[in-house]
Parts: sequence; C-alpha cells; structure tokens
Amino acid sequence: TKMFLKNFTGTLLVLLLGLFTSLSVLATPLILSHRGASYWAPEETRPSYLLASLLGGDYWEMDIQRTKDNVLIALHDLTLERTTNVAEIFPGREKDPVETFTWAELQKLDAGSWFNKKNSDRARDSYKGLKILSFEEVIDLALRSKYSGGLYVESKNPEHYAGMEQQMLDLLKKKKWLGPKNQMTHRLYFQTFGRDSAVIFKKIAPTIPCTLLIDDEHKETWPDDIKFGVEHQFVLGPPIALFDSPENKEAVLKSKARAHVWTIDEESQIQKAKDLNLDGIFTNRTDLAVFIYKKKAAPVGQYLKQLKY
Ligand code: G3P
Ligand code: CA
Repeated sequence: TKMFLKNFTGTLLVLLLGLFTSLSVLATPLILSHRGASYWAPEETRPSYLLASLLGGDYWEMDIQRTKDNVLIALHDLTLERTTNVAEIFPGREKDPVETFTWAELQKLDAGSWFNKKNSDRARDSYKGLKILSFEEVIDLALRSKYSGGLYVESKNPEHYAGMEQQMLDLLKKKKWLGPKNQMTHRLYFQTFGRDSAVIFKKIAPTIPCTLLIDDEHKETWPDDIKFGVEHQFVLGPPIALFDSPENKEAVLKSKARAHVWTIDEESQIQKAKDLNLDGIFTNRTDLAVFIYKKKAAPVGQYLKQLKY
C-alpha cells in the first residue's frame, strides 16, 4: 500500500506540474487595441474600434481629453493638426490646444482623410469625413455593437483638465458601463502617465485597475516610476524601450505588479512579450497579435467590408 501511495502521489505531482506548465504556456498577454485597430483605420474613430472588436482584441485603448465646453473626447494629441483638417476649417488655430475648441467646432472637422494621405496602401474613401468621437459616443458604440471586450481609458494631459478623473467615472456610471458602486459590470482599466491622476483614480475607484504609464523620455526616473507603481498597486505600463535596460527589465519582471507594455507592432516583439510572460501589450496591430497569440485568422479586408468601410 505504501508503495502504491508513493507512486500515486508521484504521478499526481507530475500531472499537476504538467497542467500548471501547459496553463502558463497557454496564458497570453491581453491584446490592448491601441487607439483601436489603428494600423488599418484612422485612430480613435468608429471603424478603428469596430475593427478591433471583430479582430478579437481584448480592450479598446483610448486617450481622453476635454473640450472648452467640458465634453470628454477621444483624441491623442494636444492639438488637432496631425489627425484633422483643422488648418483648412479653422485657419490660424491649428497649433491651438484642443481644449480651446468647443464640441460643435470639433464636429466640423474631418478626422479620417489625414490617414488616407499618410497611408495610401490602406486608404479607403469611406474614411473621409470621419468624426472625432466623444467619450460618451465611444461607450455607446461599445454597448450597441455588443462589444465583449473592455475599455482601457487614459486621462491624457490630466494637468490640463482638472477633475477629469471624476468626470470620466461619472460618465461610465451614467452609461452603466460600471455599477453605481463601481461594480465592474463591464471590463475597464484606467491608465495615465500622471502620478497625481493615477492616485486620484485609485482614490475614487479603488476596485478598478489603474495602469501607471512610464514615459520613454526620462530613463533616469524609471527605477522610481517602477517603485512608485508597485507601492501604489498600479499595473505598470512600461515602454518597450525599458526592456533594453537589464536592471529596469529585471525590476519589472521581478515585481508583483502586472505589466502592460506599449506600443509594439512587430511580430518579434509581440512574441517576445509572451515569452517574457507580460500581462498585456498595447498594439496598433490587433490583427497580428490575435494571429500570433490566438492562432486566429485576421481577415481585415473582409471585416472592413462587413462594417461597410
Ligand atoms: O496608453 C498607452 C500608450 O498609448 C501610451 O502612449 O502616447 O500612445 O498614449 P500614447
Ligand atoms: Ca494612450
């Protein structure tokens, strides 16, 4: 009997070890569709997000800012110059920050044609005249399209927009993306480069995960950024360049914090993020990431046709 028990226990341990190993091999990083499927469609617009859903990304990533009349919008840059025809519609205001424009003014802009000019190989007539989206419109789009993924929302340039964190939270509750007591009825992450903003998110919504993004310009602050992020129980959002620095890479990998790396589009980097056991990747190439991580085909042209773009 003793021998049997010994053999049985040994076999069980081997089986459990095998199961554990195969599960950890199966685990893949979250695919965070950076500004939507923005390699294929104008960033932070309707087709970019809807395509990201069809492709099977896990979260829509977006940058939230605010208009002069207090409307939260999804836009990355502080100015409208790169991603709209502001120079044509409001000559002389192209270098003005977005916060000096009203929502009605933003609605006069074309947020799609720049993409066609820049990417002739991926240009589509249907991208002409796309609109900048309000945060509310993005949430509506997610709800109406029965998107099963989550929202990964950044307070962008938070020093410009006092109180934006509470405003974002209130809107998410109003639209029932969250329950009245911040229950996660839908998946959500907050994210920000601003330490103060991250602390505010943690204070007003302690149960919602919040990622502290680490910037790629100030390498000298990386050790302290990592320490601050770990101490405050944020998810770490390191730039890909940080992984070229052995000490900082080690500090991230050895920490108990989850790590979501930005922004990777190359096949080798996408594979490397998985090998390093990272928890998420921000990518403009949701198509490539689902192909690599989920072994799922990514018929972009077919999906865009289906979406009528
Ligand atoms: O939010 C993750 C990544 O997007 C950070 O860089 O400049 O694209 O917001 P950025
Ligand atoms: Ca961002």
